[in-house]
Amino acid sequence: MLVDSFGRVATDLRVSLTDRCNLRCSYCMPPEGLDWLPKPELLTAEEVVRLVTVGVERLGVTEVRYTGGEPLLRRELTEIVAATAALRPRPEVSLTTNGIGLARLAGPLAAAGLDRVNVSLDTIDREVFVRLAHRDRLGDVLAGLEAAVAAGLAPVKVNAVLMRGINDHEAATLLRFCLDHGYELRFIEQMPLDAQHGWRRDDMVTADEILGLLKDSFDLVEDDPRDRGSAPAELFLVDGGPARVGVIGSVTRPFCGACDRVRLTADGQVRNCLFATEESDLRAALRSGATDDELAARWIAAVRVKKAGHGIDDPSFLQPGRPMSAIGG
Ligand code: 5AD
Ligand code: SF4
Repeated sequence: MLVDSFGRVATDLRVSLTDRCNLRCSYCMPPEGLDWLPKPELLTAEEVVRLVTVGVERLGVTEVRYTGGEPLLRRELTEIVAATAALRPRPEVSLTTNGIGLARLAGPLAAAGLDRVNVSLDTIDREVFVRLAHRDRLGDVLAGLEAAVAAGLAPVKVNAVLMRGINDHEAATLLRFCLDHGYELRFIEQMPLDAQHGWRRDDMVTADEILGLLKDSFDLVEDDPRDRGSAPAELFLVDGGPARVGVIGSVTRPFCGACDRVRLTADGQVRNCLFATEESDLRAALRSGATDDELAARWIAAVRVKKAGHGIDDPSFLQPGRPMSAIGG
């Protein structure tokens, strides 16, 4: 098992399949993009599946989530999902995507064994979308969401990040939209993970503020927190339920004590935390002929030293060297 020195067990593996993206959300990367990882440094599809297999068969991983960058840009995604769903014990297989391309891929991915999707959607206003993501692709995202429902990838979850002065006036509008379409909306506090290092605590729209904005238009009652488990979202029943909305206060209400996640970057580095400053190089081990036992041992050692928390509130906090798009959501 992947246990750290505080007794937390990592069972939820997040795998980034590419650091590339076809959007430029300003909380993530600059409009001109980034220096993408050179192809030889990326894990091949076979290497991804080999490492995920070690995680599931030997290390107790029960949930595998593919992320990016934008994972739909990875050509072999359907094959990777199929190979993951074929593992025993079968893990839950999910995807975090910006939704562009999902209109075409939702069906084939569901057929390959994908169980669930989270789609990022920060606005339903085309002009705001262009200002926030620097691409005119709102229509593709909305079509992707509809295709996900049609393909049976329910419940379709929507992730939204609010930015002050850009889309924070849309909190209630987004919730109404998601309720009308049967999507489960989660607001995520903006975290210091942007490539530009532009995050300022004072600019962040906090979980308290988000709840305040929603309560002006909806009746919210906290859902039984015992159902929360290790899930980071605090869930609220909307107007008496059964529909719910989640608020993920990663910064102001950290859930590090219940964290059950471990990450694998597109270039094969294990990260025990989004905010880790160190990584463990499984790709080098794998490419120099390590056995599954050796890979597992390295992975166990990497999780063992996971820190108690992200320490964003510490004066000594250092933003990780790599941005979210290279780490994986
Ligand atoms: N803070 C909070 N959420 C972020 N995401 C990307 N960058 C940030 C950030 N700096 C979100 C994306 C996506 C998920 C992977 O994380 O919008 O929904
Ligand atoms: Fe792309 Fe996701 Fe970053 Fe937006 S947040 S630029 S969709 S990787």
